[in-house]
Amino acid sequence: MKEEEPILELRDVNSYYGKSHILFNVSFEVKRGEVVVLLGRNGVGKTTTLRTIMGLVSKRTGEIILDGSINLIALPPYKISRYGLGFVPDSGGIFPNLTVGENLKISERQSIKREDRIFDMNEVFQIFPQLRELLKRTAGKLSGGERRMLGIARGLLLNPEILLIDEPSEGLAPKIVHDIAETINTIQEYGISLLVADQNLPFVEKVADKIYVMDRGEIKLSGRINELSRQDLERFLAFS
Ligand SMILES: Nc1ncnc2c1ncn2[C@@H]1O[C@H](COP(=O)(O)OP(=O)(O)OP(=O)(O)O)[C@@H](O)[C@H]1O
Ligand SMILES: [Mg+2]
Repeated sequence: MKEEEPILELRDVNSYYGKSHILFNVSFEVKRGEVVVLLGRNGVGKTTTLRTIMGLVSKRTGEIILDGSINLIALPPYKISRYGLGFVPDSGGIFPNLTVGENLKISERQSIKREDRIFDMNEVFQIFPQLRELLKRTAGKLSGGERRMLGIARGLLLNPEILLIDEPSEGLAPKIVHDIAETINTIQEYGISLLVADQNLPFVEKVADKIYVMDRGEIKLSGRINELSRQDLERFLAFS
């Protein structure tokens, strides 16, 4: 792949919830087409990082540069999504009282792109054939894995340049975690850039091109997947 501007770059980002300082000089980049994983145990600031990028943490400083030129740091969430960022929260971001079909239709209508969009309902069913069978099901009645798939499908229907996914493997059986990993790899083949926060090492090893390890609100270690030893990664995931 040719060298080019990262699609997303954080430079010295700090975030606060009220008076609590949560992120400390977080800097990293996502290159176009890459799957980048933020890895770290509970409470280290992964979700806060994704929410900060989306403009959902009100007190934030530093620079969040999209496409080498647009600084997102002071923009409101609706403008940030309009610039092409999609976010799948750890809760799935679905409407539990609506059907699967209704959930998908809402996202399709909110698509950022209209003309050269990649994902419509049909394309999403290529990736998630099981969702076609579940169209009339109430979303709140889905299994954990199905719910996660629906959340990611909704994210794709927005046709983002970069999709942020929070803890896609959380609480799922190993077989389903494996399926989600395959799905992430398929999505990458469409050329979408992905920033994923997770702490399941086998999952992360299946999907990541590059890993940034977080601990207590800081990036402590980073590298391409083949440059990092499992031992180092496990050290940061162990409870201290
Ligand atoms: N709304 C909030 N108000 C105050 N503090 C918060 C809030 N949300 C998170 N925190 C704190 O910020 C820190 C980082 O939390 P965050 O949710 O970003 O971690 P995480 O890495 O996503 O963890 P998890 O694996 O549990 O999802 C934690 O100390 C947490 O208690
Ligand atoms: Mg989290």
